[in-house]
Amino acid sequence: MKNERIEMLVASFREHFGGEPELMVRAPGRVNLIGEHTDYNDGFVFPVAIDRDIMVFSRPRDDNLVRIYSLDPPEMSEFSLDDIQHDDEITWSNYPRGVAHFLQEAGYNLRGLEATLLGNIPQAAGLSSSAAMEVSSAMTYEKIAGLEIDPVQMALICQKAENEFVGVNCGIMDQFMSRMGRKDHALLLDCRSLEFELVPLNLEGVKIIVCNTGVKRGLVDSEYNERRSECERGVKLLDEFLPGIKALRDVDIDDFHKYKSHLPEITEKRCRYVIQEDDRVLESVQALADGDLIKFGYLMNESHIGLRDEYEVSCPELDAMVEIAWSVDGVIGSRMTGAGFGGCTVTLILESAVEELIEKVEKEYPERTGLQPEIYVCTAEDGASGSLWN
Ligand code: GLA
Repeated sequence: MKNERIEMLVASFREHFGGEPELMVRAPGRVNLIGEHTDYNDGFVFPVAIDRDIMVFSRPRDDNLVRIYSLDPPEMSEFSLDDIQHDDEITWSNYPRGVAHFLQEAGYNLRGLEATLLGNIPQAAGLSSSAAMEVSSAMTYEKIAGLEIDPVQMALICQKAENEFVGVNCGIMDQFMSRMGRKDHALLLDCRSLEFELVPLNLEGVKIIVCNTGVKRGLVDSEYNERRSECERGVKLLDEFLPGIKALRDVDIDDFHKYKSHLPEITEKRCRYVIQEDDRVLESVQALADGDLIKFGYLMNESHIGLRDEYEVSCPELDAMVEIAWSVDGVIGSRMTGAGFGGCTVTLILESAVEELIEKVEKEYPERTGLQPEIYVCTAEDGASGSLWN
């Protein structure tokens, strides 16, 4: 499996560390088909792992040092497993640092290592390049130290690293997906119990297209945390009428309508979106099982409208991209994906219409926004994997 990225990683390994790497690990990004901002509400999500990933080539060391060379941006980060500090300058290194910290805290004995890494997931585009960094690091530590880490625990440790070491208060979806994805499947995840089901996509004649608006979003953004707090506030207020609820997951839409007048207007809108989105995820999985792609697409569109009007995490560029897709015959459904405020849309489309969509996006999106789009035709791929190199 020669490819350019592998050649670059191996050449760079030789240059920086001498000799050959022994292990290759890759962890993919993800695109979420439906179920947005539901993970931290104990709800459901339905993402796929995509054919864009981060690759790490590595070899153990005899001491406790971790030395990682990133090819993009080209810089080396070095730290000791005995004293892992946050690095304010080489910020990408906080992913492998945080993951090592929490693996050790969970009782795993790690080994020092040297590694080169390079990804092809666009950054800050809502395709989970951060989760792929965490999961590829975790799996590298696992294999280099000859450990066996339960995959769900690995995803949770990666999430903890992102929450508590990197400082981004994300849910579990991205790390879980990067670790557990399966080729040609989407994953229905119950973010409360962490039970999951790999659902065959059977998308013959249908493509998944990801369109990057070129608007970078920062998740550390106060907006993400504000949405979380609004949801928590909603639960607190509704608990008076629905005692025992722990998260919006526990509120059904009829009860919500009964008691919603007790919520401030903004809280009401945010909660309504989340409760409906959870229902949409389950309906869309059923639609897929029934082979009803029209319904699946309709639910994707409804999800976008909710994110735009009620949860208010879309932006004019995401809306423009989605509207362009909606105007193409053969588009089954289209919506923003990921946290929002920029990043990407996801579109399900008949293969026969892909060319028209690409032409329209390339022409109309810059006219409407002054920005250049990027378009990726994606496939659903396996989650993280590691294998001996050489
Ligand atoms: C980001 C977070 C996820 C999830 C999505 C929104 O990708 O990392 O945990 O909350 O936003 O669905």
